[in-house]
Amino acid sequence: MAKIILTGDRPTGRLHIGHYVGSLRRRVELQDSGEFDRIFVMIADAQALTDNADNPEKVRANITEVALDYLAAGLDPEKTTIFVQSHVSELTELSFYYMNLVTVQRLQRNPTVKSEIKMRGFSDSEDGSDNKAGIPVGFFCYPISQAADITAFKATTVPVGEDQEPMIEQTREIVRKFNSTYAPVLVEPEILLPDNAACLRLPGTDGKAKMSKSLGNCIYLADDAQTVRAKVKGMFTDPEHLQVSDPGHVEGNTVFTYLDAFCRDEHFRKFGNCFQGRKESFLFHNLDEVKARYRAGGLGDAMLKNFLAEVLEDTLGPIRERRAKFAADIPAVMEMLRKGSAEAKAVAGQTLEEVKRAMKINYFE
Ligand code: TRP
Repeated sequence: MAKIILTGDRPTGRLHIGHYVGSLRRRVELQDSGEFDRIFVMIADAQALTDNADNPEKVRANITEVALDYLAAGLDPEKTTIFVQSHVSELTELSFYYMNLVTVQRLQRNPTVKSEIKMRGFSDSEDGSDNKAGIPVGFFCYPISQAADITAFKATTVPVGEDQEPMIEQTREIVRKFNSTYAPVLVEPEILLPDNAACLRLPGTDGKAKMSKSLGNCIYLADDAQTVRAKVKGMFTDPEHLQVSDPGHVEGNTVFTYLDAFCRDEHFRKFGNCFQGRKESFLFHNLDEVKARYRAGGLGDAMLKNFLAEVLEDTLGPIRERRAKFAADIPAVMEMLRKGSAEAKAVAGQTLEEVKRAMKINYFE
């Protein structure tokens, strides 16, 4: 069976380094591994509109931002089909048929949808007695549309963050239900989670659980070097590490979580001078040695943050340069998306035909 990847992002903001370590970096590795027959990466604008219906300008503006972030991170349109969800109308059509295979009760149990309803302040009372805005039906159904996204391309592998696990589980249920009710047309996908705990859910610079635009705790791929440095300087560390000589905590210390996600041994050869101060000087070869020293006491946060800033710049510098290069020719980016969307449409169209045949609604064939 062909090995096919499908994944995507909602275009509701520029992508940040949480997206990078949580998914973008992995996608580029998968793309370059040569192990997959086809790779599709989708800008999920239709899904973004399910809770941004009154803000189409925001979604529109972020189509190019996200496309630039993809190209900057190293996705290559020669190897990966990058496309826009709303321009593959087959996905909407599939969603409508899948809706018959899912109950309202099952959707209500989806933990990610549940927590998003809370986060967005939608009402969860049946009679509207809590005076909050109700849940848009489109939003409520987006896990079904996500199943359409995945199955339209017969994806076998879906690299996503752990918050997407319930979506993949629902997709698998829909596939089983469809295949047993009609005919074995659809493919059950596997989730591919980040392999490093720090990458699974990179905290915000304030140490809060997740990087999120609304919390203002993000480092964006488009941030310039100075901005990144300033954000690192202001980062949350260990509130009990008051004196340099105090023993410090590594767990729950955001600077260390970021180092876990970004730092490689070669960075100690490149940026070892960050640990050479006037008062204290250290020679480290790897992150474990730094952690041991921090726990024992004597290693200051300023040195550590200087090092982290260098490590981040080592990864983000080249991304920023590529982004600027692509941003200089937006019409070429749009043309890439247009071509990708046409390719995706052709593939999804084939699946839709098989689906209709299986459902016996191919009356005019
Ligand atoms: N829900 C995903 C997110 O919020 C975006 C998405 C839409 C997606 N359709 C998908 C991801 C299909 C993987 C597969 O990031």
